[in-house]
Amino acid sequence: FNVPLAVNEPVKSYRPGSPERAELKKMLEEMRSVELDLPMVIGGREVYTDKRVRIAPPHDIKHTLGYYCMGDQSHVQMAIDAALEARVKWNAMSWQHRAAIFLKAADLFAGPYRAKINAATMLGQSKNAFQAEIDAACEMADFFRFGVKCVTDIYKMQPESSAGIWNYNEYRGLEGFIFALTPFNFTSIAGNLPAAPAMMGNVVVWKPSHTAIYSAAVIMEVLREAGLPDGVINLVYAGGPQTADIVLNSPDFAGIHFTGSTRVFQSIWKTIGENIFKYKSYPRIVGETGGKDFIFADPTADPQALAIAMIRGAFEYQGQKCSAASRAYIPRSIWDDVCTRVGNELATVKMGPVEDFTNFVNAVIDENSFDKLAGYIERAKEDVDAEVLFGGNCDKSVGYFIEPTVILAKKPDYTTMVEELFGPVLTVFVYEDEELDKTLKVLDQTSEYALTGAIFSQDRYAIEKMTRMLENAAGNFYINDKPTGAVVGQQPFGGSRGSGTNDKAGSIFNFLRWTSIRTIKETF
Ligand code: ALA
Repeated sequence: FNVPLAVNEPVKSYRPGSPERAELKKMLEEMRSVELDLPMVIGGREVYTDKRVRIAPPHDIKHTLGYYCMGDQSHVQMAIDAALEARVKWNAMSWQHRAAIFLKAADLFAGPYRAKINAATMLGQSKNAFQAEIDAACEMADFFRFGVKCVTDIYKMQPESSAGIWNYNEYRGLEGFIFALTPFNFTSIAGNLPAAPAMMGNVVVWKPSHTAIYSAAVIMEVLREAGLPDGVINLVYAGGPQTADIVLNSPDFAGIHFTGSTRVFQSIWKTIGENIFKYKSYPRIVGETGGKDFIFADPTADPQALAIAMIRGAFEYQGQKCSAASRAYIPRSIWDDVCTRVGNELATVKMGPVEDFTNFVNAVIDENSFDKLAGYIERAKEDVDAEVLFGGNCDKSVGYFIEPTVILAKKPDYTTMVEELFGPVLTVFVYEDEELDKTLKVLDQTSEYALTGAIFSQDRYAIEKMTRMLENAAGNFYINDKPTGAVVGQQPFGGSRGSGTNDKAGSIFNFLRWTSIRTIKETF
């Protein structure tokens, strides 16, 4: 039961002149010069259809990366059938053989496929080289390596036995198939959501976000190269509601592993409830949904550390991390200092395409997102309750570029202080120092979501008090650090309230959801 020691994949720097930078640049050029034609992968077969959908980089919308094949409900049904066919053999395969496939896949992502998965994420999702590296290559390898460790630790958990009696737990995969519905913002999450249930012996129907097809195709390529048997994970590109309609009506639906919007997750949950009599077992519902993540500083906070956390927390990957800081509460006594530092740092931040590695900010994912964000920013410019302090320019002529924007809210419940925007917009509320407790209460009361949050203070007593008062406002809580960048194996990730079922991605808590235990008692 001793598996290879799980350690986090070291992050490469991509400094000018480094070999990894040269390799990635070459890969980007190659990928820009060929035109993709991406099939679905069902039961190990590449399935092409007549309907092609164009893929373009969000930062360069006139360039065509290629096309993917759009499927329909018949392909979803085909994927369910293929999964069920593969199930018996996969579930019966020894865990060492299942685990070996994912360990090999981790090494492929960290080694020969590193440039490819990073470049696909950069071009397809407009993520810069450093952000792609920590996500697509490193976090993916981490999810798989720590995943194997979690599965092994679960298998080791066995009940007591006594003389003449042997009790043991058999960790079966769920009876049926798992539906993985994955997001665009982390390639590693798109890989982990189908992989985690599969590691526990389940079979999966996987529908990736239509804005992250390129990286999904590379993930599937790697899994197949690592030896994943046909039908264990089936990749379908059909419409969301059409896919859900077939999947959630199937008597073999056994669970969902989801990352996406709160509204979609709630509607899926409702449909599962309506269909409950159809299923063989109660489905496992595991989801990570919206967020309105915060930074709260007290008067003793270090202004420079705070300013950097605000910028990195709010604007890395254009604020499209589920963990991104989107609201900050700063006391009046340090605000001028913090504001000057934020302005100075922002003046050094460059925005543009991912192919230029000096660009810190790239494009947001698509036109819908662009229009929604531009709308919030335009309204803030006109609103008496708000002031746009930095940024505020939006331009979609070449790509979906939204300048990193800081809005000052005059009220703590101003729209952009409470609604999820999912983009490079940080709203700041400046509170009077003597109203710290009141402001903490307002923060908690306006936290419809509870994913991540960070507090900044150098006062131990205040840290303890704020941690307690914000007990339910975040599933991942940071003290004197930005609220993003949870590392697999170090900060199990997930939140409650409108943010999800808090089953902690990449941890044993998550893997336990993907097994149905049979406890066997044998007497001699
Ligand atoms: N691991 C990602 C983060 O914490 C989700 O930003």
